[in-house]
Amino acid sequence: MPVSSATDPALPGHVAIIMDGNGRWAQARGLERSEGHREGLEATRRAVRFYAEHGIQSLTVFAFSSENWGRPRSEVEALFELFVTAIEGELPELVERGIRLRFIGDRATFPPTLQTRMCEAEEATAGNEGMCLVVALGYGGRWDILQAARKWVAKGGAEADGDAESTFAAELSTTGLADVDLLIRTGGEQRISNFLLWQAAYAEILFIETYWPDVGEKDFERSLAWYAQRQRRFGRVSAGAYSATEVPGA
Ligand code: FPP
Repeated sequence: MPVSSATDPALPGHVAIIMDGNGRWAQARGLERSEGHREGLEATRRAVRFYAEHGIQSLTVFAFSSENWGRPRSEVEALFELFVTAIEGELPELVERGIRLRFIGDRATFPPTLQTRMCEAEEATAGNEGMCLVVALGYGGRWDILQAARKWVAKGGAEADGDAESTFAAELSTTGLADVDLLIRTGGEQRISNFLLWQAAYAEILFIETYWPDVGEKDFERSLAWYAQRQRRFGRVSAGAYSATEVPGA
């Protein structure tokens, strides 16, 4: 059963963003791709401020995918350095805003300094009650489903008590978070790229042409206005399409 955390149905409870276009933004300006990632961090800060101020309960951003390991070593190292700097630099504001920071993904092979900063930041914000900022690092939707499946089977899986979909979802890295309501991808491509495959099963998907470093408040405002116009049916029919007695559970 899809789960939404939104208390106001016109507002998404969980927004997820594929922050794409950093490299092309930099290349179009004759800059190193790492400059695009640095500028992308500014856009991420704008997104966090905007969605937190608009009462969004969870914001998940895709910062490094399982597949990004295949990029040139220099770019991967520059990204890891940026992540360390970002965590150190942004932590005071996250604490001040009451934002809880959580990382999802396979962090086992990350540089030790990055792993340490990730743990420290999660611990420092664990008691916060504002928006939950989820940063997907070393994340892949297939990795998530596989690691959940292993744990689920080890706990008895289908033979265990409870609704199988719920007990399985509880083993995903996003446990405790509602499903994604609004998934945004910037940079002009129209694909999911192994992001939250299970969690975004019923997400409304908004594709934006703009490269991530140029995305700002106007785009975020438009995303909420666009979402408010969506009719979410979760595979059912629109209200009024049948009489109430014809619809199971109505
Ligand atoms: C995709 O653009 C972007 C990334 C792989 C990195 C995203 C990272 C940030 C925005 C920094 C945020 C940091 C934190 C800690 C949240 P791309 O390189 O695939 O761009 P391209 O498609 O134009 O090549």
